[in-house]
Order: sequence, then C-alpha cells, then structure tokens
Amino acid sequence: TPEKAPPIKGDILVHASADKEGQPVRVSELSEQGVSAWPMGKDKEGNNVIRKGEPNNQLAVYRFERDRFKVPEDGGHAHVVLQLDGITDQGVVAYSNKCTHAGCAVPNDPNDATRLFCPCHSGEYDLLQGCKVVGGPPPRSMPQLPIKLENDQLVVTETFVTAPYGFLNEADWESYLE
Ligand code: FES
Repeated sequence: TPEKAPPIKGDILVHASADKEGQPVRVSELSEQGVSAWPMGKDKEGNNVIRKGEPNNQLAVYRFERDRFKVPEDGGHAHVVLQLDGITDQGVVAYSNKCTHAGCAVPNDPNDATRLFCPCHSGEYDLLQGCKVVGGPPPRSMPQLPIKLENDQLVVTETFVTAPYGFLNEADWESYLE
C-alpha cells in the first residue's frame, strides 16, 4: 500500500509531530536540530498519502551551512554515502532517523549538534558526513533521502541513496503503488 511504500521522486516532506502532522516542512523552520518528518506521496486516485506505515520512512530534516558538508570516506562501515546534489542550496538535508542498530529514533547529541547520539546504546552519527557511524554499535550509516526545494516545498528527488533495508530498487517500490 502507498502508506508502506518507501519514498519516491516527487514526494514532499511533511511534519510528523502530532500538532503539525501532514503540513509541509518549510526551510524557515529548520536548524541544526532535527525536525521529524515523513514523505508524503499520492495514491492511485491522486489523494495525498503520508507514508508512515513503514517505520523505515521515519525521517529527520536538518539545516547547516551548505559548505560544512563533506563527502565521507568510508571508515570501514558499509553504505556511507552523501549525495551533495540531494542537499538544497539552503543546506537542508534529510536522513532516515531509525537507528541501524536496533531501530531507536536518534536525537541530536546535546554536546554537538552536528552529531546524533542514540539514547538506546550510545550509537553516534555524523550529520555532515552522510550520517556515518562515528561511535557505538550501529552497523551502517542512516541513509540520506535526496531532496530539492521547489515551490517552497522540500521535494524528494530519488529514493534513499543506500538500500540497507532489504528493498531492492525503485521500480520494485513503485509496484507498491499499483
Ligand atoms: Fe541505536 Fe542501539 S538502537 S545504538
């Protein structure tokens, strides 16, 4: 079903918090502190569908100065990718927010907003380098969801740049929608 489908090109990012759920995330609302979001697409009748039926679609969106991002070197962890084209000119980046260790939601590190610190088992991720693992037990980075700014909305340009969840490819995912 479309609620459980992974994000696809053309989806927009909408708030996940209860008070704003479904409202488009605006650049002006963003900072280094993550804002919870879901991808929202369309069902086959053309109605909006928030893709919150798949926990792996849980996102967080951040804004940093654009030139602080750095394409990561693979520090021994598989699937570390940062697609600079998938960060908006304003420095907005979206990543999965489901810890790759045991699935906890991961907030910013209170001591360093460029990092995430997982409350469950102290996993650490670097937001400026593709959410790569920099500490603790997570086995791989949390994947980036490439986006662009269009008509004041954050629009998905392709699905997650890594496929750590066992989904095969975008064509398979699109078949969820049929
Ligand atoms: Fe995040 Fe274990 S769930 S470190």
